[in-house]
Amino acid sequence: MNVHDSQRIEHLLRGAGYQLVDAPEGAEVVVLNTCSVREKAEQKLRSEAGRLKKLDTVLVVAGCVAQQEGERLLKAMPYLDVVVGPDNLGDIPSLVREAQLGGRPTARTVFDLDAPSFLTGATSPGSTGASAYVTVMKGCDERCTFCVVPYTRGPERYRPADQILAEVRALVDAGAREVVLLGQTVNSYRDPSLGGPTPDDRSEFPELLGRIAREVPHLNRLRYTSPHPRHLTPALEEAHRALGVLARHVHLPVQSGSDRVLKRMLRRYTRAEYERRARSLLAAVPGLTLTTDIIVGFPGETRGDFEETLGLVEALGFVGVFAFKYSPRPLTPSLKLDDDVPEDEKQSRLQALFAVTEALTQRHLEGCVGTVVEVLVEGPSRPGARTVVGRTRRNEIAHLAPLEGARAGAVVEAEVLRAHKHSLEARGLRVLLEAPGAVVATRRRVALPVVAV
Ligand code: 5AD
Repeated sequence: MNVHDSQRIEHLLRGAGYQLVDAPEGAEVVVLNTCSVREKAEQKLRSEAGRLKKLDTVLVVAGCVAQQEGERLLKAMPYLDVVVGPDNLGDIPSLVREAQLGGRPTARTVFDLDAPSFLTGATSPGSTGASAYVTVMKGCDERCTFCVVPYTRGPERYRPADQILAEVRALVDAGAREVVLLGQTVNSYRDPSLGGPTPDDRSEFPELLGRIAREVPHLNRLRYTSPHPRHLTPALEEAHRALGVLARHVHLPVQSGSDRVLKRMLRRYTRAEYERRARSLLAAVPGLTLTTDIIVGFPGETRGDFEETLGLVEALGFVGVFAFKYSPRPLTPSLKLDDDVPEDEKQSRLQALFAVTEALTQRHLEGCVGTVVEVLVEGPSRPGARTVVGRTRRNEIAHLAPLEGARAGAVVEAEVLRAHKHSLEARGLRVLLEAPGAVVATRRRVALPVVAV
Protein backbone atom coordinates (compact mmCIF):
# COMPACT_ATOMS: atom_id res chain seq x y z
CA MET A 1 0.00 0.00 0.00
CA ASN A 2 2.77 2.43 0.89
CA VAL A 3 4.81 1.57 -2.19
CA HIS A 4 1.75 2.33 -4.28
CA ASP A 5 1.13 5.58 -2.39
CA SER A 6 4.72 6.57 -3.24
CA GLN A 7 4.03 5.76 -6.90
CA ARG A 8 0.96 7.98 -6.79
CA ILE A 9 2.96 10.82 -5.24
CA GLU A 10 5.57 10.41 -7.95
CA HIS A 11 2.84 10.48 -10.61
CA LEU A 12 1.26 13.63 -9.13
CA LEU A 13 4.57 15.45 -8.94
CA ARG A 14 5.54 14.44 -12.47
CA GLY A 15 2.19 15.85 -13.56
CA ALA A 16 3.17 19.13 -11.90
CA GLY A 17 6.43 19.21 -13.89
CA TYR A 18 8.88 17.61 -11.43
CA GLN A 19 11.32 14.82 -12.19
CA LEU A 20 12.62 12.04 -10.02
CA VAL A 21 16.27 12.23 -8.98
CA ASP A 22 18.50 9.67 -7.30
CA ALA A 23 19.50 11.54 -4.16
CA PRO A 24 18.00 14.15 -1.85
CA GLU A 25 21.06 16.40 -2.12
CA GLY A 26 20.21 19.14 -4.62
CA ALA A 27 16.52 18.16 -4.87
CA GLU A 28 13.92 20.92 -4.72
CA VAL A 29 11.41 18.75 -2.91
CA VAL A 30 11.81 15.68 -0.73
CA VAL A 31 8.79 13.59 0.22
CA LEU A 32 9.05 11.09 3.05
CA ASN A 33 6.18 8.66 2.80
CA THR A 34 5.62 7.08 6.20
CA CYS A 35 4.20 4.01 7.91
CA SER A 36 3.15 3.84 11.54
CA VAL A 37 2.13 0.20 11.85
CA ARG A 38 5.03 -0.48 14.20
CA GLU A 39 7.13 1.91 16.23
CA LYS A 40 10.25 1.08 14.27
CA ALA A 41 8.69 2.46 11.07
CA GLU A 42 7.93 5.68 12.93
CA GLN A 43 11.50 5.91 14.24
CA LYS A 44 12.74 5.71 10.66
CA LEU A 45 10.94 8.96 9.87
CA ARG A 46 12.55 10.71 12.82
CA SER A 47 16.09 9.73 11.87
CA GLU A 48 15.59 10.34 8.14
CA ALA A 49 13.98 13.76 8.65
CA GLY A 50 16.78 14.74 11.04
CA ARG A 51 19.31 13.90 8.32
CA LEU A 52 17.43 15.91 5.68
CA LYS A 53 16.74 19.04 7.69
CA LYS A 54 20.13 20.52 6.75
CA LEU A 55 19.22 20.52 3.05
CA ASP A 56 17.75 23.52 1.31
CA THR A 57 14.62 21.75 0.13
CA VAL A 58 10.87 21.68 0.63
CA LEU A 59 10.41 18.78 3.04
CA VAL A 60 7.09 16.89 2.93
CA VAL A 61 5.98 14.13 5.31
CA ALA A 62 3.15 12.05 3.86
CA GLY A 63 1.29 8.93 4.93
CA CYS A 64 0.24 7.35 8.21
CA VAL A 65 2.60 9.09 10.64
CA ALA A 66 1.53 12.39 9.07
CA GLN A 67 -2.13 11.48 9.65
CA GLN A 68 -1.51 10.27 13.19
CA GLU A 69 0.55 13.26 14.32
CA GLY A 70 -0.74 16.13 12.12
CA GLU A 71 0.10 19.57 13.58
CA ARG A 72 2.11 17.92 16.37
CA LEU A 73 4.64 16.85 13.76
CA LEU A 74 5.09 20.47 12.68
CA LYS A 75 5.72 21.46 16.31
CA ALA A 76 8.15 18.61 16.93
CA MET A 77 9.96 19.16 13.63
CA PRO A 78 9.71 22.87 12.83
CA TYR A 79 11.86 22.40 9.74
CA LEU A 80 9.07 20.47 7.95
CA ASP A 81 7.10 22.35 5.30
CA VAL A 82 4.15 20.08 4.57
CA VAL A 83 2.43 17.23 6.45
CA VAL A 84 -0.24 15.29 4.49
CA GLY A 85 -2.32 12.26 5.40
CA PRO A 86 -3.05 9.35 3.05
CA ASP A 87 -6.32 10.91 1.83
CA ASN A 88 -4.67 14.24 1.02
CA LEU A 89 -1.86 13.17 -1.28
CA GLY A 90 -3.60 14.93 -4.17
CA ASP A 91 -2.88 18.27 -2.44
CA ILE A 92 0.89 17.74 -2.41
CA PRO A 93 1.69 19.71 -5.60
CA SER A 94 -0.26 22.80 -4.50
CA LEU A 95 1.02 22.66 -0.90
CA VAL A 96 4.58 22.34 -2.18
CA ARG A 97 4.01 25.35 -4.43
CA GLU A 98 2.75 27.39 -1.47
CA ALA A 99 5.79 26.39 0.58
CA GLN A 100 8.08 27.42 -2.27
CA LEU A 101 6.37 30.81 -2.35
CA GLY A 102 7.17 31.26 1.32
CA GLY A 103 3.91 30.02 2.88
CA ARG A 104 3.74 28.80 6.47
CA PRO A 105 4.16 25.10 7.26
CA THR A 106 0.86 23.27 6.73
CA ALA A 107 -0.70 20.03 7.97
CA ARG A 108 -3.60 18.56 6.00
CA THR A 109 -5.09 15.40 7.47
CA VAL A 110 -8.77 15.12 6.60
CA PHE A 111 -10.46 11.90 5.46
CA ASP A 112 -12.42 12.26 2.22
CA LEU A 113 -15.52 10.55 3.58
CA ASP A 114 -18.19 12.09 1.36
CA ALA A 115 -16.45 11.84 -1.98
CA PRO A 116 -13.60 9.37 -1.62
CA SER A 117 -10.84 9.82 -4.18
CA PHE A 118 -8.82 6.94 -5.58
CA LEU A 119 -5.66 8.27 -7.14
CA THR A 120 -3.90 6.13 -9.69
CA GLY A 121 -0.24 5.68 -10.44
CA ALA A 122 1.06 6.12 -13.97
CA THR A 123 -0.95 4.09 -16.50
CA SER A 124 0.56 5.19 -19.82
CA PRO A 125 2.84 3.09 -22.03
CA GLY A 126 6.46 3.55 -20.97
CA SER A 127 5.53 4.20 -17.35
CA THR A 128 4.28 0.88 -15.97
CA GLY A 129 6.31 -2.10 -14.85
CA ALA A 130 5.51 -5.76 -15.48
CA SER A 131 3.39 -5.73 -12.32
CA ALA A 132 1.16 -2.86 -11.24
CA TYR A 133 -1.00 -2.02 -8.23
CA VAL A 134 -4.67 -1.09 -8.42
CA THR A 135 -6.53 0.11 -5.33
CA VAL A 136 -10.02 -1.33 -4.86
CA MET A 137 -10.82 -0.03 -1.38
CA LYS A 138 -9.23 2.07 1.32
CA GLY A 139 -9.52 2.35 5.07
CA CYS A 140 -10.53 -0.38 7.50
CA ASP A 141 -13.68 -1.12 9.53
CA GLU A 142 -12.09 -3.95 11.51
CA ARG A 143 -10.95 -3.08 15.00
CA CYS A 144 -8.00 -5.44 15.58
CA THR A 145 -6.86 -4.18 18.95
CA PHE A 146 -3.16 -3.91 18.04
CA CYS A 147 -3.62 -1.98 14.81
CA VAL A 148 -3.33 1.74 14.17
CA VAL A 149 -4.52 1.58 10.55
CA PRO A 150 -8.25 2.31 11.15
CA TYR A 151 -7.14 5.57 12.78
CA THR A 152 -4.59 6.56 10.14
CA ARG A 153 -6.49 5.45 7.04
CA GLY A 154 -10.05 5.95 8.23
CA PRO A 155 -13.20 3.91 7.59
CA GLU A 156 -13.67 1.59 4.63
CA ARG A 157 -14.50 3.23 1.32
CA TYR A 158 -14.87 1.25 -1.90
CA ARG A 159 -14.08 2.20 -5.44
CA PRO A 160 -16.71 1.70 -8.16
CA ALA A 161 -16.01 -1.52 -10.08
CA ASP A 162 -16.14 0.26 -13.45
CA GLN A 163 -13.27 2.54 -12.36
CA ILE A 164 -11.24 -0.44 -11.21
CA LEU A 165 -11.87 -2.22 -14.51
CA ALA A 166 -10.87 0.88 -16.46
CA GLU A 167 -7.57 1.18 -14.59
CA VAL A 168 -6.78 -2.53 -15.00
CA ARG A 169 -7.52 -2.24 -18.73
CA ALA A 170 -5.33 0.87 -19.09
CA LEU A 171 -2.43 -0.84 -17.32
CA VAL A 172 -2.70 -3.96 -19.45
CA ASP A 173 -2.89 -1.81 -22.60
CA ALA A 174 0.25 -0.02 -21.37
CA GLY A 175 2.07 -3.37 -21.07
CA ALA A 176 1.50 -4.56 -17.48
CA ARG A 177 1.23 -8.35 -17.29
CA GLU A 178 0.19 -8.60 -13.65
CA VAL A 179 -2.16 -6.56 -11.50
CA VAL A 180 -2.14 -6.64 -7.71
CA LEU A 181 -5.43 -5.46 -6.20
CA LEU A 182 -4.89 -3.46 -3.03
CA GLY A 183 -6.98 -2.82 0.04
CA GLN A 184 -6.57 -2.94 3.81
CA THR A 185 -9.12 -5.76 3.91
CA VAL A 186 -9.23 -6.18 0.17
CA ASN A 187 -11.70 -9.06 0.14
CA SER A 188 -14.39 -7.13 2.02
CA TYR A 189 -14.87 -5.21 -1.26
CA ARG A 190 -18.38 -4.12 -2.27
CA ASP A 191 -19.28 -2.20 -5.40
CA PRO A 192 -20.60 1.19 -4.22
CA SER A 193 -22.28 1.81 -7.56
CA LEU A 194 -24.66 -1.08 -6.87
CA GLY A 195 -26.22 0.72 -3.92
CA GLY A 196 -26.68 -0.21 -0.27
CA PRO A 197 -25.04 -2.85 1.89
CA THR A 198 -25.22 -6.48 0.86
CA PRO A 199 -27.15 -8.98 3.01
CA ASP A 200 -25.10 -10.50 5.86
CA ASP A 201 -22.15 -8.22 5.21
CA ARG A 202 -21.45 -10.32 2.11
CA SER A 203 -18.46 -9.16 0.08
CA GLU A 204 -18.59 -8.72 -3.70
CA PHE A 205 -14.89 -9.36 -4.10
CA PRO A 206 -15.30 -12.71 -5.91
CA GLU A 207 -17.57 -11.00 -8.46
CA LEU A 208 -14.94 -8.29 -8.97
CA LEU A 209 -12.28 -10.94 -9.65
CA GLY A 210 -14.63 -12.65 -12.12
CA ARG A 211 -15.33 -9.40 -13.96
CA ILE A 212 -11.62 -8.59 -14.28
CA ALA A 213 -10.90 -12.10 -15.59
CA ARG A 214 -13.73 -11.88 -18.16
CA GLU A 215 -13.38 -8.29 -19.25
CA VAL A 216 -9.58 -8.02 -19.38
CA PRO A 217 -8.67 -11.34 -21.01
CA HIS A 218 -5.11 -10.25 -21.85
CA LEU A 219 -4.21 -9.86 -18.20
CA ASN A 220 -1.71 -12.62 -17.43
CA ARG A 221 -1.84 -12.63 -13.62
CA LEU A 222 -4.06 -11.31 -10.90
CA ARG A 223 -3.14 -11.08 -7.23
CA TYR A 224 -4.57 -9.26 -4.21
CA THR A 225 -3.41 -8.12 -0.80
CA SER A 226 -4.30 -8.25 2.05
CA PRO A 227 -7.38 -10.38 2.61
CA HIS A 228 -9.07 -10.82 6.00
CA PRO A 229 -9.69 -14.50 6.81
CA ARG A 230 -13.33 -13.86 7.71
CA HIS A 231 -14.03 -12.88 4.08
CA LEU A 232 -12.36 -15.99 2.68
CA THR A 233 -15.77 -17.34 1.76
CA PRO A 234 -16.81 -20.35 -0.36
CA ALA A 235 -17.45 -17.86 -3.21
CA LEU A 236 -13.86 -16.58 -3.03
CA GLU A 237 -12.58 -20.15 -2.93
CA GLU A 238 -14.70 -20.88 -6.00
CA ALA A 239 -13.12 -17.90 -7.78
CA HIS A 240 -9.69 -19.39 -7.09
CA ARG A 241 -10.85 -22.72 -8.48
CA ALA A 242 -12.44 -21.22 -11.58
CA LEU A 243 -10.17 -18.34 -12.59
CA GLY A 244 -6.87 -19.43 -14.11
CA VAL A 245 -5.61 -15.83 -14.02
CA LEU A 246 -5.47 -15.81 -10.20
CA ALA A 247 -2.04 -16.39 -8.70
CA ARG A 248 -1.63 -19.71 -6.96
CA HIS A 249 -0.60 -17.96 -3.78
CA VAL A 250 -2.53 -16.12 -1.07
CA HIS A 251 -1.11 -14.02 1.75
CA LEU A 252 -3.57 -14.64 4.58
CA PRO A 253 -2.59 -12.92 7.85
CA VAL A 254 -3.40 -15.10 10.88
CA GLN A 255 -1.57 -13.10 13.64
CA SER A 256 -1.76 -15.93 16.24
CA GLY A 257 -2.59 -19.61 16.60
CA SER A 258 -4.12 -19.25 20.06
CA ASP A 259 -7.86 -18.66 20.46
CA ARG A 260 -7.27 -16.74 23.67
CA VAL A 261 -4.91 -14.32 21.89
CA LEU A 262 -7.07 -14.10 18.74
CA LYS A 263 -9.97 -13.07 20.94
CA ARG A 264 -7.95 -10.38 22.70
CA MET A 265 -6.78 -9.18 19.29
CA LEU A 266 -10.43 -9.02 18.16
CA ARG A 267 -9.64 -10.93 15.00
CA ARG A 268 -13.19 -12.31 14.72
CA TYR A 269 -12.22 -15.90 13.91
CA THR A 270 -10.98 -18.89 15.86
CA ARG A 271 -7.95 -20.95 15.05
CA ALA A 272 -10.22 -23.77 13.89
CA GLU A 273 -12.15 -21.44 11.56
CA TYR A 274 -8.95 -20.11 10.06
CA GLU A 275 -7.59 -23.62 9.63
CA ARG A 276 -10.79 -24.88 8.04
CA ARG A 277 -10.91 -22.07 5.50
CA ALA A 278 -7.21 -22.29 4.69
CA ARG A 279 -7.33 -26.07 4.24
CA SER A 280 -10.40 -25.85 2.10
CA LEU A 281 -8.68 -23.32 -0.19
CA LEU A 282 -5.53 -25.46 -0.34
CA ALA A 283 -7.63 -28.47 -1.31
CA ALA A 284 -9.55 -26.49 -3.95
CA VAL A 285 -6.47 -25.22 -5.78
CA PRO A 286 -3.72 -27.80 -6.25
CA GLY A 287 -0.26 -26.37 -5.61
CA LEU A 288 -1.53 -23.16 -3.99
CA THR A 289 0.79 -21.74 -1.34
CA LEU A 290 0.02 -19.64 1.70
CA THR A 291 2.04 -17.01 3.49
CA THR A 292 1.02 -15.14 6.63
CA ASP A 293 1.71 -12.42 9.20
CA ILE A 294 2.25 -13.20 12.87
CA ILE A 295 2.63 -11.00 15.94
CA VAL A 296 4.57 -12.47 18.88
CA GLY A 297 4.38 -11.16 22.43
CA PHE A 298 0.90 -9.66 22.25
CA PRO A 299 -0.21 -8.59 25.77
CA GLY A 300 -1.05 -11.65 27.83
CA GLU A 301 0.49 -14.13 25.36
CA THR A 302 1.84 -17.05 27.38
CA ARG A 303 4.51 -19.49 26.32
CA GLY A 304 1.66 -21.97 25.76
CA ASP A 305 -0.20 -19.54 23.47
CA PHE A 306 2.97 -19.01 21.48
CA GLU A 307 3.49 -22.74 21.13
CA GLU A 308 0.01 -22.99 19.66
CA THR A 309 1.09 -20.46 17.05
CA LEU A 310 4.18 -22.54 16.25
CA GLY A 311 1.95 -25.60 15.95
CA LEU A 312 -0.39 -23.85 13.52
CA VAL A 313 2.50 -22.62 11.36
CA GLU A 314 3.83 -26.17 11.10
CA ALA A 315 0.40 -27.71 10.56
CA LEU A 316 -0.48 -25.39 7.68
CA GLY A 317 3.04 -25.31 6.23
CA PHE A 318 3.15 -21.60 5.39
CA VAL A 319 5.89 -21.10 2.79
CA GLY A 320 6.65 -17.64 4.12
CA VAL A 321 5.93 -15.84 7.39
CA PHE A 322 6.30 -12.16 8.20
CA ALA A 323 6.77 -12.12 11.95
CA PHE A 324 6.75 -9.08 14.20
CA LYS A 325 7.20 -8.34 17.88
CA TYR A 326 4.14 -6.66 19.32
CA SER A 327 4.63 -2.91 19.29
CA PRO A 328 2.18 -0.71 21.25
CA ARG A 329 0.69 1.92 18.95
CA PRO A 330 -1.05 5.20 19.75
CA LEU A 331 -4.87 5.21 19.71
CA THR A 332 -5.15 1.41 19.65
CA PRO A 333 -7.38 -0.50 22.12
CA SER A 334 -4.56 -2.85 23.13
CA LEU A 335 -2.80 0.09 24.79
CA LYS A 336 -5.16 -0.56 27.70
CA LEU A 337 -3.72 -4.06 28.03
CA ASP A 338 -0.48 -4.43 29.91
CA ASP A 339 2.44 -4.92 27.44
CA ASP A 340 3.62 -7.65 29.78
CA VAL A 341 5.79 -9.94 27.67
CA PRO A 342 9.38 -8.86 28.41
CA GLU A 343 11.47 -7.70 25.46
CA ASP A 344 13.93 -10.62 25.70
CA GLU A 345 11.03 -13.07 25.73
CA LYS A 346 9.50 -11.40 22.63
CA GLN A 347 12.89 -11.66 20.98
CA SER A 348 13.30 -15.33 21.84
CA ARG A 349 9.78 -16.13 20.54
CA LEU A 350 10.58 -14.29 17.32
CA GLN A 351 13.79 -16.33 16.94
CA ALA A 352 11.96 -19.59 17.63
CA LEU A 353 9.34 -18.68 15.03
CA PHE A 354 12.02 -17.76 12.48
CA ALA A 355 13.71 -21.12 12.98
CA VAL A 356 10.46 -22.91 12.14
CA THR A 357 9.46 -20.67 9.24
CA GLU A 358 12.89 -20.60 7.61
CA ALA A 359 12.94 -24.38 7.61
CA LEU A 360 9.48 -24.42 6.00
CA THR A 361 10.52 -21.87 3.36
CA GLN A 362 13.65 -23.88 2.61
CA ARG A 363 11.73 -27.14 2.32
CA HIS A 364 9.29 -25.49 -0.05
CA LEU A 365 11.95 -23.89 -2.27
CA GLU A 366 13.95 -27.12 -2.41
CA GLY A 367 10.78 -28.93 -3.44
CA CYS A 368 10.63 -26.64 -6.50
CA VAL A 369 14.01 -27.82 -7.84
CA GLY A 370 13.55 -29.77 -11.08
CA THR A 371 10.07 -28.36 -11.74
CA VAL A 372 9.14 -26.12 -14.66
CA VAL A 373 7.72 -22.72 -13.72
CA GLU A 374 6.42 -19.62 -15.50
CA VAL A 375 8.43 -16.53 -14.59
CA LEU A 376 7.15 -13.01 -15.16
CA VAL A 377 10.35 -11.02 -15.70
CA GLU A 378 10.51 -7.76 -13.74
CA GLY A 379 13.99 -6.54 -14.76
CA PRO A 380 17.71 -7.08 -14.16
CA SER A 381 18.61 -8.92 -10.92
CA ARG A 382 20.67 -5.87 -9.92
CA PRO A 383 21.22 -2.64 -11.79
CA GLY A 384 23.49 -3.48 -14.72
CA ALA A 385 23.29 -7.27 -14.16
CA ARG A 386 22.74 -9.60 -17.14
CA THR A 387 20.69 -12.05 -15.12
CA VAL A 388 17.04 -11.11 -14.69
CA VAL A 389 14.66 -11.55 -11.80
CA GLY A 390 10.96 -12.23 -11.79
CA ARG A 391 8.16 -14.04 -10.01
CA THR A 392 6.57 -17.40 -10.56
CA ARG A 393 2.80 -17.92 -10.56
CA ARG A 394 3.15 -18.75 -6.88
CA ASN A 395 5.07 -15.55 -6.27
CA GLU A 396 8.43 -17.19 -5.61
CA ILE A 397 11.34 -14.94 -6.61
CA ALA A 398 13.29 -16.51 -9.48
CA HIS A 399 16.62 -15.42 -10.96
CA LEU A 400 17.27 -16.42 -14.57
CA ALA A 401 20.49 -16.67 -16.54
CA PRO A 402 20.46 -14.43 -19.64
CA LEU A 403 18.01 -15.66 -22.29
CA GLU A 404 17.17 -13.97 -25.59
CA GLY A 405 13.96 -11.96 -25.17
CA ALA A 406 13.72 -12.35 -21.37
CA ARG A 407 13.18 -8.66 -20.72
CA ALA A 408 10.86 -6.87 -18.30
CA GLY A 409 7.29 -7.91 -19.03
CA ALA A 410 8.17 -11.19 -20.73
CA VAL A 411 6.76 -14.45 -19.40
CA VAL A 412 9.37 -17.19 -19.58
CA GLU A 413 9.11 -20.92 -19.05
CA ALA A 414 12.02 -21.96 -16.85
CA GLU A 415 13.42 -25.00 -15.11
CA VAL A 416 14.34 -24.55 -11.45
CA LEU A 417 17.97 -25.49 -10.88
CA ARG A 418 18.65 -24.48 -7.29
CA ALA A 419 17.02 -23.14 -4.15
CA HIS A 420 18.59 -20.21 -2.34
CA LYS A 421 17.52 -18.82 1.03
CA HIS A 422 14.66 -16.70 -0.28
CA SER A 423 14.67 -17.29 -4.02
CA LEU A 424 15.03 -19.79 -6.84
CA GLU A 425 17.68 -19.99 -9.52
CA ALA A 426 16.28 -21.14 -12.85
CA ARG A 427 17.22 -21.72 -16.47
CA GLY A 428 14.98 -20.10 -19.05
CA LEU A 429 13.68 -22.65 -21.57
CA ARG A 430 11.58 -20.47 -23.86
CA VAL A 431 9.76 -17.19 -23.98
CA LEU A 432 6.03 -17.81 -23.66
CA LEU A 433 4.99 -14.16 -23.98
CA GLU A 434 7.20 -11.50 -25.53
CA ALA A 435 8.04 -8.41 -23.50
CA PRO A 436 5.69 -5.59 -24.51
CA GLY A 437 7.96 -2.85 -25.91
CA ALA A 438 7.16 -0.13 -23.42
CA VAL A 439 7.41 -1.87 -20.04
CA VAL A 440 9.99 -0.36 -17.69
CA ALA A 441 12.26 -2.52 -15.57
CA THR A 442 11.14 -2.34 -11.96
CA ARG A 443 13.37 -0.02 -10.01
CA ARG A 444 14.31 -1.90 -6.92
CA ARG A 445 14.72 0.95 -4.52
CA VAL A 446 13.58 1.60 -1.01
CA ALA A 447 10.03 2.81 -0.73
CA LEU A 448 10.88 5.63 1.65
CA PRO A 449 12.09 8.72 -0.20
CA VAL A 450 10.38 10.01 -3.28
CA VAL A 451 12.60 12.80 -4.41
CA ALA A 452 11.85 15.41 -7.01
CA VAL A 453 13.75 18.37 -8.46
N1 5AD B 1 2.72 -4.57 16.53
C1 5AD B 1 3.34 -5.51 15.78
N2 5AD B 1 2.94 -5.87 14.55
C2 5AD B 1 1.85 -5.25 14.04
N3 5AD B 1 1.20 -5.39 12.88
C3 5AD B 1 0.18 -4.51 12.85
N4 5AD B 1 0.13 -3.81 13.99
C4 5AD B 1 1.15 -4.25 14.77
C5 5AD B 1 1.62 -3.92 16.07
N5 5AD B 1 1.01 -3.00 16.82
C6 5AD B 1 1.58 -6.38 11.87
C7 5AD B 1 0.44 -7.37 11.60
C8 5AD B 1 -0.06 -6.95 10.24
C9 5AD B 1 1.20 -6.41 9.59
C10 5AD B 1 0.97 -5.50 8.43
O1 5AD B 1 1.84 -5.72 10.63
O2 5AD B 1 0.97 -8.68 11.56
O3 5AD B 1 -0.65 -8.00 9.52
